[in-house]
Amino acid sequence: MITIRPCLPTEWNTLQKLNDEVFQDNLKYDPDLVADYALSEKGKNYFKLVLKDKNSCCFIAEEAGKPVGYIVGSPKKYSYRKSKYFELDNMGVSPQNRSHGIGSKLIKTLIQWASEHKYKKIIVNTYFKNSPAIAFYKRNGFGEIDVTLERKIVK
Ligand SMILES: CC(C)(COP(=O)(O)OP(=O)(O)OC[C@H]1O[C@@H](n2cnc3c(N)ncnc32)[C@H](O)[C@@H]1OP(=O)(O)O)[C@@H](O)C(=O)NCCC(=O)NCCS
Repeated sequence: MITIRPCLPTEWNTLQKLNDEVFQDNLKYDPDLVADYALSEKGKNYFKLVLKDKNSCCFIAEEAGKPVGYIVGSPKKYSYRKSKYFELDNMGVSPQNRSHGIGSKLIKTLIQWASEHKYKKIIVNTYFKNSPAIAFYKRNGFGEIDVTLERKIVK
């Protein structure tokens, strides 16, 4: 059985391991990523800050007491938009546990939290070529809003 619970303030190590699985997956879409970022000091400090921040939220999915997924969200300020936005900063489900509805349960929990905190919209970024994640977000009610482009600077 899957349980979704708030992340404990000292669980950065669990989050780093789950986040590392996301990084390894995302390397397919972004060769510029620092491959060991999640397990590095910087990766640890990122989660330590998230866990201290009262305006952010973090949930862990467990199966038989084992962490198998996580989701992190924080406020997103747009001075030029009308609505109060919350951002789904990152999420992941362990490869062997995907396609069992865990990611969707994590999203529902995040939306419930954001709704209780008076947010009106949720935004998420993912890689343009990460079609499984895009299909997943669309099935969970998200629609496209913008596209990020990059290019190399050559002399
Ligand atoms: C994207 C991700 C978080 C989705 O998590 P998940 O637990 O697999 O999500 P779900 O199981 O709720 O949904 C995934 C698919 O499984 C299907 N599914 C859900 N429950 C199912 C079940 N009981 N049986 C069979 N299929 C099921 C859904 O239809 C869904 O299909 P869709 O993606 O075409 O919409 C996960 O695949 C992941 O961690 N990916 C790598 C990292 C990543 O891309 N993170 C997000 C972007 S940064």
